[in-house]
Amino acid sequence: MGWDSIITEGTVVTATDAYAADVAIQDGKIVAMASDLPRENAKRTFNASGMYVMPGGIDVHTHLDMPFGGTTSSDDFETGTRAALFGGTTTLIDFAIQYKGQSLRQAFDTWMEKAAKRATSDYAFHCIITDLSEARLEEVRALVRDGVTSFKLFMAYPGVFMLDDASIFKVLQAAAGQGALVCMHAENGGAIDVIVKQALAEGKTAPKYHALTRPTTAEAEATARAIALAEMAGAPVYIVHLSCNDALLKVREARDRGLPVYAETCPQYLYLSLENFDVPGFEGAKYVFTPPLREKWHQEKLWEGLRQDHLQVVSTDHCPFCFKEQKELGKDDFTKIPNGGPGIEHRLSLVYSGGVAGGRISVNRFVELVATTPAKLFGLYPRKGTIAVGSDADVVIFDPRRQHTISARTHHMRVDYSMFEGIQVTGLPQIVLSRGEVMVEGGQFLGRPGRGQFVKRATYHPV
Ligand code: URP
Ligand code: ZN
Ligand code: ZN
Repeated sequence: MGWDSIITEGTVVTATDAYAADVAIQDGKIVAMASDLPRENAKRTFNASGMYVMPGGIDVHTHLDMPFGGTTSSDDFETGTRAALFGGTTTLIDFAIQYKGQSLRQAFDTWMEKAAKRATSDYAFHCIITDLSEARLEEVRALVRDGVTSFKLFMAYPGVFMLDDASIFKVLQAAAGQGALVCMHAENGGAIDVIVKQALAEGKTAPKYHALTRPTTAEAEATARAIALAEMAGAPVYIVHLSCNDALLKVREARDRGLPVYAETCPQYLYLSLENFDVPGFEGAKYVFTPPLREKWHQEKLWEGLRQDHLQVVSTDHCPFCFKEQKELGKDDFTKIPNGGPGIEHRLSLVYSGGVAGGRISVNRFVELVATTPAKLFGLYPRKGTIAVGSDADVVIFDPRRQHTISARTHHMRVDYSMFEGIQVTGLPQIVLSRGEVMVEGGQFLGRPGRGQFVKRATYHPV
């Protein structure tokens, strides 16, 4: 009896420990961990000397093949999951959107159809609810039973995605009853729409006005309102793509009161700022996403929030649109620029580089932010999100010394620019395994479309 493979001489890193151990893999699972496991037992050996052996990243916020803003995000489940794997993300949670008049089941079926034959990595879904009725509330229970255990609601985009407070409150109550987690896009959409209309009337049509019409106060107000609604409903709440210190303070205050309030931020808010709009012509459209970029000083506050556990997760909000033809839809009017940016590929390197190599967080905290806490909050743990006997062998052999300059010329996302063009990172995935199968090795992709599995998630696990 032998193992399929063994990873030797690396440093196993989890959210709590870092220690020298070999890791044996059989039938897609981690089956043994110890120092000096017998190599002759394994069909294949990966030498991880000088490297970290860490759990595959879990990106809980992606938008693949998503119709939005008059076009569709440019990565589908094949190109998006492939780019994710190159970057060390082995599981993602995408959003199945219920359009007005549809059932939640229709949303789920539509996104399953998009993913099933294409995904190269494992995947799961949150369900975005945009149209609430009693029948839809009934459906929450059925979806939770089928492994869709989180829901996203919008407090922005009136007339498209936005729900009113009464509907949000009802979903929070229903979710609490089922052990589900509500993810909230927290921006005051009503106020923002007024500011946007005033800007357009003044002839302010350039990309930077997307950012300048969405003040941090609008995000902070909605964050506080989301927390208050969740508190009244007795529900946990997870604030998505938190971008600024004002909103962070609201989360921090709630957590200090002991409320089950969680929040993620994204690499764009840690690395980019309003200064990115100081580019010629329409180039600023590359940085149009929501919430928008903020003044530079917010970045250090967010890093500090990650360090101190006021923020628990880094996701990407990967929602790519090509500059040519897609972003260009808004050439004369920033409100017509499809909102979103590409980032699925570089999350681990950016967080490791700015966080661990930059001296801001420990390597354990890095693993916690990109893999373990996402797995726990979203019902994937301990199957995923850690290195342990019995867990899926989703493993990244991560080289903490390798350097790389991010560029659209070399990335694997299907998009014609990079938000992080020219940024040099330290720390790159060297070998990526998904359920024991080699996905990336020596810069080559070895996965295939359709091998990715839908993961039925358990209900929310407090952390
Ligand atoms: O601009 C963004 N973030 N696009 C994706 C949709 C969302 O709100 O997450
Ligand atoms: Zn959002
Ligand atoms: Zn998003």
